[in-house]
Amino acid sequence: MRTEILPATEEHIARAAEVIRAGGLVAFPTETVYGLGADALNEEAVRKIFLAKERPPDDPLIVHIAFAQQLAQLARQVPQRAWDLAEKFWPGPLTLVLPKTDRVPAVTTGGLDTVAVRMPSHPVAKRLMELSAVPIAAPSANRFGRPSSTTAQHVWEDLAGRIDLIVDGGPTPIGVESTVLDLTQEPPMVLRPGGVTLEELRKVVGEVHLLSSCSSEAAKRSPGTRWRHYAPRAKVLLVEQGTAEAVLERFRSVRVGVLVRGPHPHPLSRPQRRERGERGEGPEVIVIQMPRSLREYARRLFAALRELDAQGVEVIVVEKLEERGLGRAIMDRLRRASSSEREA
Ligand code: TXA
Ligand code: MG
Repeated sequence: MRTEILPATEEHIARAAEVIRAGGLVAFPTETVYGLGADALNEEAVRKIFLAKERPPDDPLIVHIAFAQQLAQLARQVPQRAWDLAEKFWPGPLTLVLPKTDRVPAVTTGGLDTVAVRMPSHPVAKRLMELSAVPIAAPSANRFGRPSSTTAQHVWEDLAGRIDLIVDGGPTPIGVESTVLDLTQEPPMVLRPGGVTLEELRKVVGEVHLLSSCSSEAAKRSPGTRWRHYAPRAKVLLVEQGTAEAVLERFRSVRVGVLVRGPHPHPLSRPQRRERGERGEGPEVIVIQMPRSLREYARRLFAALRELDAQGVEVIVVEKLEERGLGRAIMDRLRRASSSEREA
């Protein structure tokens, strides 16, 4: 299949909407990451998403909508709490899990009787949904298990030749995926931390539980979160703050990458080490300076992991972040990227 990549003009978005209506696959920007979209109510089209991504069929997709009323067509019961959350956070990076109606095919929800729904705020995503006039099922537009795509180029690297069209709307502003909130239980539970923080959710709905990322409970409740995920080819090592330099000493014979938040130029970078007479020759340490602000860090995260892969490092050392606000979503992705567990 020939994959087209087109800038996000009105004309090209209209073309993308036609592809969606005809049962094809379109990658498009959302405010979180790029999504790989198909008509959520068309079984054949949704099946193509799983094939293109090599995604296991029991890993449910998020259904994207343009208007709040569409929620009532997809979800059997919409509690007041869901409307309250929608009013506060939609359009935006919050996904709500609710009991599904019969209109939603089982392939879309990975066989579950619940459906995950969100209304994105990105103008290109909004326009695409308006013009296609169908709910769009869209997982992140990466090969299964890889870091999510935050640019059209990332989508191209992972999916060229497997999908019809990539709409290029530039880098995505948030950089980590939406928060997935399960409203079928009491109190509601965050299945995946994301762009809307736990602190923000608690302000609106009071008590909210957070599913611990790597538990077996997590595997049961949110099938897509059970595997090693968001992972570059290199091995990711998550270390305590301020210890990256010491940890690097263990990797004197391999090419390593490091993500650190610190002053620039960083003492770990190659010229600095050479000045100090250390490791001037031999395998290189590639330092990516990450921003102090959690928002900026999140925006940069997946691209940084992909960049280090492209530079051929064998190990990526990452310093842990504070687990508050967006730090929870970032740490969740880093933990999964560093997990060595790989089922099935
Ligand atoms: O920000 C996002 O959410 C991006 C953009 C494209 O919207 N999409 C995204 O989709 O991250 P995906 O497929 O990569 O992740 C969807 C997550 C998975 O962890 C999946 O298990 C969970 O949502 N999920 C989907 N439907 C579910 C359901 N019915 N019950 C529980 N978890 C569900
Ligand atoms: Mg994903």
